Amino acid sequence: LTAFFSSKLLAGRKLLITAGPTFEAIDPVRGITNHSSGKMGFAIARAARAAGAEVTLVAGPVHLPTPRGVRRINVQSAQQMLDAVLQQVPGASVFIATAAVADWRPATQAAHKIKKDGTGEPPLLRFVENPDILATVAQLPQARSGALYCVGFAAESEDLLAQASAKRVRKGVPLLVGNIGPATFGQDDNALLLVDANGHRELPRASKRVLAQQLVAEIAARLPRH
Ligand code: CTP
Ligand code: CA
Repeated sequence: LTAFFSSKLLAGRKLLITAGPTFEAIDPVRGITNHSSGKMGFAIARAARAAGAEVTLVAGPVHLPTPRGVRRINVQSAQQMLDAVLQQVPGASVFIATAAVADWRPATQAAHKIKKDGTGEPPLLRFVENPDILATVAQLPQARSGALYCVGFAAESEDLLAQASAKRVRKGVPLLVGNIGPATFGQDDNALLLVDANGHRELPRASKRVLAQQLVAEIAARLPRH
């Protein structure tokens, strides 16, 4: 790996990475989100930069320092994350979706703080599905032609290989990376299952820093020459 990083195998490549949770507003003072720490995405951004890539990180609300040399765009909602990604995707050769995007958002956002109405009846919230950022990018012409290599992540609570394989096909991406449980949110180490069209391999438990370097090396090895 040391040799890999000193040889800057990703020099001249532009990488786009999503990380962290999204925050979906209910009203000006409330919203729904999740416990994604963003650590894996930030570690990948750092490793890719060390391998010589030009890295743009589209981050949901997390309090993590921006890796040196990485361009960071902060967003809140899934829709904002999609907009930022679509703006940055021209010229990118790799897209890595590590973000834990909220699957749903409140159907409407109240313009003012929702108040208790005195009856004891709670407000009824309706939800609508958010856009699928990874699937959207994977359908772009440059992704379909192989010029943009798309990588998805999955955290499953059971049957990881089968679920990850199915998700890879459903999202239309060449590589799907599964988090090998137990729940990895917020932890500093992890183990990964890499699933591509040729099969699968495991990256055994290690720090997210080391895993990110290994994953970046695996991705670099799968890119077409340029
Ligand atoms: N993803 C995304 N946009 C979404 C939902 C997911 O870009 N709206 C990306 C994630 O960043 C991840 C991959 O898709 O790389 C898989 O996310 P996951 O939540 O596991 O898949 P879903 O399709 O949302 O299915 P489910 O949560 O029902 O398992
Ligand atoms: Ca989901």
